Amino acid sequence: MPTTASSITRTYRFCAAHRLHTDQLPDEINKTIFGKCNNLNGHGHNYTILVTVTGELDMRTGLITNVDALDQLVKDRIVDRFDHQHLNFDPAFAQVTTTGENLARLIWDLLVDQIPSGQLEKIGVIETRDNFFEYIGTPRAPSNSSIGNRIKEH
Ligand code: NI
Repeated sequence: MPTTASSITRTYRFCAAHRLHTDQLPDEINKTIFGKCNNLNGHGHNYTILVTVTGELDMRTGLITNVDALDQLVKDRIVDRFDHQHLNFDPAFAQVTTTGENLARLIWDLLVDQIPSGQLEKIGVIETRDNFFEYIGTPRAPSNSSIGNRIKEH
C-alpha cells in the first residue's frame, strides 16, 4: 500500500442525446418518474466528465500518471464512443436507463482496467448546471505499465 497518495482530475467533454425510460415499467409510470426527461424524442446534454486518478508520486517526475496516455484512453474509450450519439442506442444501455448515475458507472467500468499508472479513484459526470453525479467502483491494482515501474526498471 502506498504511504502517501495524491490525485489528479482531468476533465473531458462530449455532447449526447438520451431519453430516460425503462421498458420494465408502464409508460404512465415512466412519465411520472422521469417527467419531461421521458419525452419520446429525447433531449441533449453537454456532458462534462471528471476522471480522478490517485497514486504515489513518481519521485523523479513528480507525476501520478501519464496524462497524455490518460487523455488518449478517455478519447478512445469514452469521447469517441459517446460524442454526438444517442446514449439509449449504445449497447451498454440496452438494459439500463441512461441516467447520470448509470453513465458514471459505465465510464468507470470502461476505464478502470486501463489507467496508465495509479488507480482510478472516481468518475464525475456533470449533466446540467444542477446535476452532478459521482461513482466510486472497486479499485484495481495499479497497472504494470506505469511510469514509475518503467523508470525503476531502467
Ligand atoms: Ni437528460
